[in-house]
Amino acid sequence: MAKPLISSTFLSFPKLLLWSLPLLFILIYTYLGGGPGLKFSTLVSFISPVEQAVTSTVPTKHGSSFSPDYSLRVTEQPFTLSCITKDKVILVNGTSPGPGLRLTEGNIYWIRVFNDMNDKNLTMALDSHWHGLSMAASPFSDGTPGASQWPIPPNHYFDYELDIVSGTAGTYFYHSHVGFQAVTAAGPLIVEEAGKPPFKYDEDRIIALSDVFDKSDSDIEEGLIGNPFQWSGETANILVNGQGQLHGSTTSANCELATINVEPEKTYRFRFIGGTALSFVSLAFEDHEMTLIEADGNYVKPIDISYLQIGSGQRFSVLVKTKRRSDLSKSQFFLQVETRDRPSLTRSYAVLEYQLANSKRTPRPKPSSLTLPTGVPPLTLPANTFGWLDYKLLALTPNPDFPKTSEVTRRITVRTHQIIGNGSIMWAQDDSPWIESFPREPYLVSLYKNDNMEFPSLDRATAHEGIDPITRVFPAAIGEVIEIIIQNTGSDVGSVDVHPFHAHGAHYYDLGSGNGTYDPVANEELIGGLSLAQRDTTMLYKYAEKTTPGIDMGWRAWRLRVTEPGVWMIHCHILQHMVMGMQTVWVMGNETEVLNVPLEHIQGYLDYGGSVNGNDTHNPHVVHFAGGDA
Ligand code: C2O
Ligand code: CU
Repeated sequence: MAKPLISSTFLSFPKLLLWSLPLLFILIYTYLGGGPGLKFSTLVSFISPVEQAVTSTVPTKHGSSFSPDYSLRVTEQPFTLSCITKDKVILVNGTSPGPGLRLTEGNIYWIRVFNDMNDKNLTMALDSHWHGLSMAASPFSDGTPGASQWPIPPNHYFDYELDIVSGTAGTYFYHSHVGFQAVTAAGPLIVEEAGKPPFKYDEDRIIALSDVFDKSDSDIEEGLIGNPFQWSGETANILVNGQGQLHGSTTSANCELATINVEPEKTYRFRFIGGTALSFVSLAFEDHEMTLIEADGNYVKPIDISYLQIGSGQRFSVLVKTKRRSDLSKSQFFLQVETRDRPSLTRSYAVLEYQLANSKRTPRPKPSSLTLPTGVPPLTLPANTFGWLDYKLLALTPNPDFPKTSEVTRRITVRTHQIIGNGSIMWAQDDSPWIESFPREPYLVSLYKNDNMEFPSLDRATAHEGIDPITRVFPAAIGEVIEIIIQNTGSDVGSVDVHPFHAHGAHYYDLGSGNGTYDPVANEELIGGLSLAQRDTTMLYKYAEKTTPGIDMGWRAWRLRVTEPGVWMIHCHILQHMVMGMQTVWVMGNETEVLNVPLEHIQGYLDYGGSVNGNDTHNPHVVHFAGGDA
């Protein structure tokens, strides 16, 4: 865990005080009575072999001897992004994107997230979500308010336990899961192999994409749920690692194009993170080829691609070979990024900057010009909007456990529909919008407390195409093989939109997409024999601007063997759509499987501001669900 952090030039990293002292840490922890559950440490078997066999869920106090692996401090303050200055921007450790975290698989990490925002308003509370990582081990740490946990109150912190099991190496990110906060409160999260990655490359670079809006976050949130409804407005710019330049503005601090530094004749792994709020983009490098090797934390059979398409929540890695020094006629090449499927096209750039200094000792010359290209854009990106790499992304190592068509127990169709009311606009799934005000407390909390909500009924759900109309959740049994069909429909005025659908809890096999209504028989011909890749975010496309209201238009299909008990969300990753209700909650497993922790051990998780939250005067009482010892 103590290996140095490799980074893109733009992302700063927090100081890791105790990386080199894991041994001491375990000893202190054990001494303090944290005892059982240290399952990954062989050392423990010498100390307390009996206790090790028992997994305890007894809360442990994270006192002054506890030191998290990372600390993230979330503040709200004036900030400038891409020449747009706002009074209130939510930042992580003072920047957006926040610091990149590098974790190594096979370890358990503790990440302390401070909500340093003073605003006492509950909706300004924060919840950090580890996008793409399964939080199966730690039921109250998935970071979904309304589903799995209470948000962190202002001036409090919460210790997230991340069990990074082997096989998860890949590209992820973390972000707030409250309201529109993730527009800036997000950062890269890279999981590295304990051993060697399956592809050879010299270094990696993170390319995190985000949007910037002219309106304030609170105006956007109020407008989206308000009556009259008010749209957020379109993205003002797509940022690369938090940087970008607006057309027509002069270059100044916080207003430059991002540079991605490379050296000649090397192979780089570029890790693209779709951290945009809204934008679905196509992108490519000027004069450099890309080979795709990873999608959403899963390695895929390498494919040469001429452009990459990425929606909110998706991640891809590509390998790029840089040019030989003698072949370079210039040292800067553009990365060109363009939105798709919006009323107007937003185009932005970053610069691939060759470092040509002869000696490593010579200070690197300040790049000569980082201004936007003038005139015709350097690249013509294809106009395609749907179907990119469908049926072409195959698992690098086929999973012998791939759930076959003959094993499918249920097909659940989630029909998304935009309801245009009397002044308001909402997104509903099977007629149920899930907005932050619907569940009065996180669903998992209600189930434990046995108060606001009853446990969902699989029978009721089966009678209603998969959704239990009373609890508005989708239940599934452990061991089932389900197909989840997300079906796009014409809105009340016949409009159609594009949606990057994201699943928490597990990665699913993506079965492709198409226009009209899903036809499992026809699709079987397309997927038969393919070892499909696992994903966590794939696109529900828009095949036309308009159709008949309520009529099916376009689907995306997933297959999943249900293995992880818990309360998980599946939602569109466009922040505006989430705020407008485009979220669903799934309960995997029966009551005994989902509510498997003794109630008395988790009291601290059950109330807003409960004892799991620390502050200046109170140490948090946290359960080490995965056995993490920090
Ligand atoms: Cu990155 Cu629930 O989302
Ligand atoms: Cu959407």
